[in-house]
Amino acid sequence: MVARTAASAARLKADALLFPVVEGVKTLPAPVAELDQALSGGLGQLLSDGGFTGRLGEVADTLSLGALGVTRVALVGMGPAERLDRVRLSNALQLALPKLPGPRGSVALQFAEEMVPGVNAADLAEAAVEAAVLSGFTQATHRSLSREGASARSIERLTLVAFPRVDRRRLEEAEVLAEATNCARELVNTPASTLTPVAFAAEARRQAATAGLAFDVLDERALKKRGYGALLAVGAGSALAPRLVTLRYRPAGRAAPRGRRLALVGKGITFDSGGISIKPSADMQYMKGDMGGAAAVLGAMIAIGRLKPRIEVIGVLCLAENMVSDRSMRPGDVVRSGSGITIEVTNTDAEGRMVLADGVHHAVGLGATDIIDIATLTGGQRVALGPVAAAVISDTPALLAEVTAASRLAGERLWELPAFTEYETLLDSPIADLNNAPGPNASAITAGLFVRRFAAGKPWVHLDIAAPSWNRVSALKEVPSGPSGFGVRTLARLALGMGQKS
Ligand code: BES
Ligand code: MN
Ligand code: ZN
Repeated sequence: MVARTAASAARLKADALLFPVVEGVKTLPAPVAELDQALSGGLGQLLSDGGFTGRLGEVADTLSLGALGVTRVALVGMGPAERLDRVRLSNALQLALPKLPGPRGSVALQFAEEMVPGVNAADLAEAAVEAAVLSGFTQATHRSLSREGASARSIERLTLVAFPRVDRRRLEEAEVLAEATNCARELVNTPASTLTPVAFAAEARRQAATAGLAFDVLDERALKKRGYGALLAVGAGSALAPRLVTLRYRPAGRAAPRGRRLALVGKGITFDSGGISIKPSADMQYMKGDMGGAAAVLGAMIAIGRLKPRIEVIGVLCLAENMVSDRSMRPGDVVRSGSGITIEVTNTDAEGRMVLADGVHHAVGLGATDIIDIATLTGGQRVALGPVAAAVISDTPALLAEVTAASRLAGERLWELPAFTEYETLLDSPIADLNNAPGPNASAITAGLFVRRFAAGKPWVHLDIAAPSWNRVSALKEVPSGPSGFGVRTLARLALGMGQKS
């Protein structure tokens, strides 16, 4: 996509010219009213009596009928002004762009202070670039009949009109981050019969080569040699063997600040049937997306390779398929993880924390100084926060603050759950060091605390993206639906932020 700026829309040629408007605005400000004269007041009429309310993502459009160089002019609802943060700016545009009728290869967005009072123009510009790229994603990659199938109608050119000051670097970053987000969404959307652990590893190898990252993969033999019994146990029931992929980014030139080495560890269950503790059939199709954490890590590593922060970053993808067969791990089995910590399997559906156990241990072995794990981990996260926000758990306030700051810049919502010590005894097992499924009490927390045991005391932050990774709650009308690529932008922003400190 090409993003450019223009001082006015007067001589602009584009498929559509959009005006973001918050709720309650009833008249056009002077510069827009001037343009509206050419339209014989059509835009003003949409605003005053066209039924447009300014609801988030609402679109009201009119053809310019040759009066302007743009084919179509539209109002885009931004919701109530006082609620408009970075997340909602992006969501409004992500919801609106697909609603534009007709072609949308070239789109322009005009900033008019009075129509979006209190909004930071730089944030709006960044959100526009992000939303323009994200709106090019389609879930319908295998549709042969419908118009919107096969290929998304992506925006090739975005013009930012009348923005007071635009920071090019920030827009370029937003574009790279959004493209990397679409890569993760694509992976989540891919059927599990195609995106097997081996296929995921192959895709990571291809992406690593393009992004200039070092790549390494451990196959079954290598995993056995290292004693990665937790990842192997989860993958044991599938004919498709597990893999552990490592991607490494090293900054050129000057050494990383304070010698920090950030590790991003992602859960990559390419399909989660639950194993012997099998899941109910309803909605099981969504479990092809149980690799959303690994997809977020791969996406973030692609962005990091392109944006080159001044910090070393390791990405670890824990890839396995959780299936039912005579070779599956059984409830009651005890497995020995790579760290030597033993795990009693009380529920084979609590597989994510097990693959993360070996992934996090692997990151420690590679000299990680700061560890983030990310996973579609628990039903508890869904119940608590839904697709609106990811759960974050940490025992390291300083690193948590860095992650939180990154999420704000990224436009992704996180909400903290506590890591109180009293929860720890829920992890006790009568036969082994840990049990993998302590039950329904505080289940999102105990899953996080389980993973922490493998971080060897390093600064650690845990992101549970079970619901945000794929919004399937149609009643949440203000959250874009489908695979979201949640985490890509926060993780990449974290690396960029850590690299800036010295
Ligand atoms: N992959 C699931 C969690 C999940 C649920 C992700 C819904 C996305 C949407 C995870 O492996 C799982 O099965 N968790 C269980 C564990 C329990 C059975 C011990 C959970 O949290 O309910
Ligand atoms: Mn599971
Ligand atoms: Zn799972």
